[in-house]
Amino acid sequence: MNILVTGGAGYIGSHTCIELLDAGFTPIVFDNLSNSSTIALDRVKQITGQTITFIKGDVRDAEALDHVFNEYNIYAVIHFAGLKAVGESVEKPLMYYDNNVSGSITLFGAMERNTVSRVIFSSSATVYGDPATVPITEDFPTSTTNPYGGSKLIIEDVLKNIHIAHPEWNIALLRYFNPVGAHKSGLIGEDPNDIPNNLMPYISGVAVGKLEQLSIFGGDYPTPDGTGVRDYIHVVDLAKGHVKALQAFENPSVDNLYTVNLGTGKGYSVLEMVAAFNKASNKPIKYQITDRRAGDIACCYADPSYAKTLIDWEATMGVQVMCDDTWRWQSNHPTGYKTND
Ligand code: NAD
Ligand code: UD1
Repeated sequence: MNILVTGGAGYIGSHTCIELLDAGFTPIVFDNLSNSSTIALDRVKQITGQTITFIKGDVRDAEALDHVFNEYNIYAVIHFAGLKAVGESVEKPLMYYDNNVSGSITLFGAMERNTVSRVIFSSSATVYGDPATVPITEDFPTSTTNPYGGSKLIIEDVLKNIHIAHPEWNIALLRYFNPVGAHKSGLIGEDPNDIPNNLMPYISGVAVGKLEQLSIFGGDYPTPDGTGVRDYIHVVDLAKGHVKALQAFENPSVDNLYTVNLGTGKGYSVLEMVAAFNKASNKPIKYQITDRRAGDIACCYADPSYAKTLIDWEATMGVQVMCDDTWRWQSNHPTGYKTND
């Protein structure tokens, strides 16, 4: 079965392609390469022994999408394509709403025209804003403090409205917590273009000597060691969640529209992640504790039990594996996909 994977050359998309192939699906990747490289797909071929059809295109291009839907018999769409840097979204809100919201609307319109009615959407724990308590269940109130989060909430709403108009569509809203780690092979992983915004690529950049030291944003949060707590999830576990979400479309006891958290249910502090990475890399990670980052929250972790009940998915890998796998990728490829081998 052909699965159109928008943004499939990116970090989560490339890992998901491997799991799709492993489960017998055929990914067709559609990506404008604004934040990725086709080298990731070459590596997927190296890992799986299978070639992936790649189409360079933008999800805001209706004609290009119609062409793809005409050419391939698409069973479902996994929609990863989007911009994801929170700070940049505050500076360039129109770019974010255009790329993420207009792009999604154009994609869903092409699906409607071409009678493709199954879609999995990459949402984020950011839609929970600053949660009143943890762990977070799917029925918690949603809110947003930046255009990136705003774009996720709007797209969720668009899909909920499509469900009202077309109750026969199968729609999965997957709210990811903090994806980290890399494929076991060390051949693919996260490759930020610029100075990383997120914790794990920053720590690994320090370990490999690309970055001087980690700034820990705040040591006075109401958490056990004063640093922020998050639910880090291995990207391969996350990728497998997409396969489960696809399979659940065939399960008549699963509602046609559903929302699930993809997290581990465990929270780790920044200092705990630094310690785990020290161990993985056998290098001390230089850090200093600085001011809090605007918009950050103290603590965020999922209650992932609904995903287990509904789509039979749960995370299996712990933080040490996440750090070991990140380090294998980073140490083998200090400059990401720019490192030749
Ligand atoms: P990524 O940047 O590695 O992948 C996104 C891919 O989409 C890239 O390959 C990029 O080139 C492509 N893309 C962007 N705009 C496009 C467009 N208009 N048309 C076609 N392709 C386009 O990011 P990722 O970490 O793999 O994230 C994938 C999805 O998951 C995103 O929607 C992101 O918002 C969401 N998400 C990510 C995280 C995270 O921490 N990585 C957390 C929650 C949700
Ligand atoms: C960030 C985004 C969130 C997005 C998520 C996944 C912000 C405010 N939030 O979440 O919307 O969904 O990424 O892409 O950007 N930290 C440091 N030093 C660093 C980097 C991070 O101390 O250099 C800390 C943070 O304060 C936080 C933890 O590490 O406590 C994790 O940070 P990060 O990886 O950026 O993820 P989130 O803040 O959860």
